Amino acid sequence: MQETKELLSDDRQGEPVMMDQQSDLQTGKKLYVESYGCQMNFSDSEIVASIMSKAGYETTRIAREADVVLLNTCAIRDNAEQRVRNRLSQFQIEKKRNPKMVVGILGCMAERLKAQLLEEEKLVDLVAGPDAYRDLPNLVTEVGTGQKAVNVLLSRDETYAEITPVRLDSNGVSAFISITRGCDNMCSFCVVPFTRGRERSRDPKSIVAEAHDLFDRGYREVTLLGQNVDSYRWNISKKGEVIEPKDETVNFAQLMDKVALVNPLLRVRFSTSHPKDMLDDVLEVMAKHKNICEYIHLPVQSGNSDVLSKMNRGYTREWYLNRIDAIRKHMPACGISTDIISGFCGETEEQHQDTLTLMNEVKYDFAYMFYYSERPKTLAARKYEDDVPVEEKKRRLSAVIHLQNAHSLASNKKAIGKTHDVLIEGDSKRSSEMQCGRNTQNVMCVFPKLAYKKGDYVTVLAKDCTSATLIGEIAE
Ligand code: SAH
Ligand code: SF4
Ligand code: F3S
Repeated sequence: MQETKELLSDDRQGEPVMMDQQSDLQTGKKLYVESYGCQMNFSDSEIVASIMSKAGYETTRIAREADVVLLNTCAIRDNAEQRVRNRLSQFQIEKKRNPKMVVGILGCMAERLKAQLLEEEKLVDLVAGPDAYRDLPNLVTEVGTGQKAVNVLLSRDETYAEITPVRLDSNGVSAFISITRGCDNMCSFCVVPFTRGRERSRDPKSIVAEAHDLFDRGYREVTLLGQNVDSYRWNISKKGEVIEPKDETVNFAQLMDKVALVNPLLRVRFSTSHPKDMLDDVLEVMAKHKNICEYIHLPVQSGNSDVLSKMNRGYTREWYLNRIDAIRKHMPACGISTDIISGFCGETEEQHQDTLTLMNEVKYDFAYMFYYSERPKTLAARKYEDDVPVEEKKRRLSAVIHLQNAHSLASNKKAIGKTHDVLIEGDSKRSSEMQCGRNTQNVMCVFPKLAYKKGDYVTVLAKDCTSATLIGEIAE
């Protein structure tokens, strides 16, 4: 899953996003939600808004006027948590002005720190982990009665399947659909299995129904979300056996097929694929349906097999490159992006160079790049020394970023002079005379506005580019 972008910006992430929506009940109470971290957190905030709306809370974009403020947080790296702490201090000041305001923390940092921010640091009034959102209305009431409003229980089966998310801060064109929660992989650097619990898949019927509903409401693109979408399975055991009683069994390739059949005008995307689990059946389904976008985010983390083994990623450099070959065999024009970590425990200069040579072999269109940040409780924190000095981590990361920028620019330059199928998302950020939308490879395209509106498909001839955007015009 793509998440907070400290180093490369992405318009959906990194910066907190505020929301505004009417409630079901008219109580006059207002909720303000700020989301940090990965797409899953943004998607969860829409579930939170739905649950709170049933309890009479209308969302607002203005924190000062809110009765309840909830920060949906990320714990993936230390700086993600620092940002939330700074924000919580600001709300402490706000609370002096308005002592009745309830400030709560949700998401992965809430799960990781449990009651600490409430009891020891006294920075919040309420703590709810990712599987406890149905309890939020009760927790808010508990704050009012002076009780300790903490619920960080993780669940083995919660998927919020039947909750219709309240689409917040939406462009009305693209929406997220969560298909799995949690992660069973235990990559040694990663805190997610501790903050999100065991992996579980959501009922395919509720996923397809949500896609239908979105299409009927004018949406034209859905992104299926999970930490490892390839391990989606319904009524199938981890070993691949059918789980009795024999109902319908569905794997990820079959799920994508079903969602693609909702309507040929509904684009389907997904995130994140795991290199160890992404097999050819998924690629075959992608190649079969024109409306499944030709774009795969396939995090590599490192180009060296020994580092990958220490990271507990479950694949080697060779296996990873074989998966890249398979993608290109099925879809020669497929966009490919990745995540890279520089300076993992014990990483040598040669191993760092292996990451650069892998990047040169694959030539990613885009990448999210980070330096290693040790997370408490993880296997790496317990077993390996975080021994690459921070200055060295930063130096290696700069080399990775520098190389990727050149690859991104080269990839976009290759797209110049070609036409691209673009789904219009709305006006461009810089000018209301320009519109923007993505091509199938997920590259943002900007072009002068004609008579088309958001949600329409247009053919754009690319004429120029930056490393992040294609600039062109609608070819009629
Ligand atoms: N489930 C996704 C990743 C989710 S976290 C996957 O398996 O690919 C998103 C990215 O954050 C990871 O791919 C990794 O590159 C980065 N990341 C995770 N833990 C990190 C850590 N401790 N330090 C630095 N980067 C980390
Ligand atoms: Fe973390 Fe690995 Fe799971 Fe991704 S697959 S969320 S990196 S443990
Ligand atoms: Fe996502 Fe951050 Fe949690 S990346 S799963 S919000 S730790």
